[in-house]
Amino acid sequence: MSRTDEVWKKEDLANAFLENVRAAIPMAAEQIDIMLRVIRSRVPSDCSFVDLGCGDGILGRAVHAMYPQSTGLFLDFSETMIEAAREKAGSSSGRLSFIIADFAAPGWTAAVNGSAPFDLVVSGYSIHHQPNERKRNMYGEIFDLLAPGGLFLNLDTVTPEPVWTEGIWDDLFIDSLFEFEQKKGSAKTREQAAGDWMGRPDRAANILAPLDDQLDWLREAGFVDTACFFKVFAQALFGGTKPE
Ligand SMILES: C[S@@+](CC[C@H](N)C(=O)[O-])C[C@H]1O[C@@H](n2cnc3c(N)ncnc32)[C@H](O)[C@@H]1O
Repeated sequence: MSRTDEVWKKEDLANAFLENVRAAIPMAAEQIDIMLRVIRSRVPSDCSFVDLGCGDGILGRAVHAMYPQSTGLFLDFSETMIEAAREKAGSSSGRLSFIIADFAAPGWTAAVNGSAPFDLVVSGYSIHHQPNERKRNMYGEIFDLLAPGGLFLNLDTVTPEPVWTEGIWDDLFIDSLFEFEQKKGSAKTREQAAGDWMGRPDRAANILAPLDDQLDWLREAGFVDTACFFKVFAQALFGGTKPE
């Protein structure tokens, strides 16, 4: 198993992310709000979309809640995550499907090709686990899955730049995690929250690449109107459009 497999396919890690980390991401609501605003301006309401590395489907569900006529495909390689996505989609899942596939292998697109082309591909905090060459190739594979005019948005962890902002980012995340723990009524101290963040088990599976390099890789893949729509230290919402 690769390092990513070792962490993300573990049920306890998946649940710990969903229960303790996802909701503590600083400005998570704002990130999703900006994502939806970009989608609203570029993608029709009856769109077909994919949520890559969907986790519990937080991004895809937000798209589907905004566009109930959309058709969505949720993909993840973790059974725990796909089950969580299916469960959280609940009664609105009629137009949604859930697929277990591993996008680390170039052949992963075979799992979704039958439903392609898509108007929209979104991904949240998932592609950064791939080696950089694989990220680069994935951007080409995603481009091929899109319909002309289709949009790709990646909300992901990137290299904090300049490098000295890494400490600011860690501090911001720890503050957010601590606040989240306090709201839950937990007795955790800020020091303990800092320990949780710095010692998080998925940390070793992160392979971060600079935002500028990734925008270059998107352009290389054929995307136009590439842009970063939101960035806070190590987290960025960026993407591009397939030409008409
Ligand atoms: C940090 S979680 C993010 C989940 C969700 N997108 C979100 O924004 O909350 C990363 C997700 O990517 C999935 N993942 C990681 N590597 C993957 C791969 N090679 N193929 C498919 N899914 C993968 C993990 O199982 C996990 O659900």
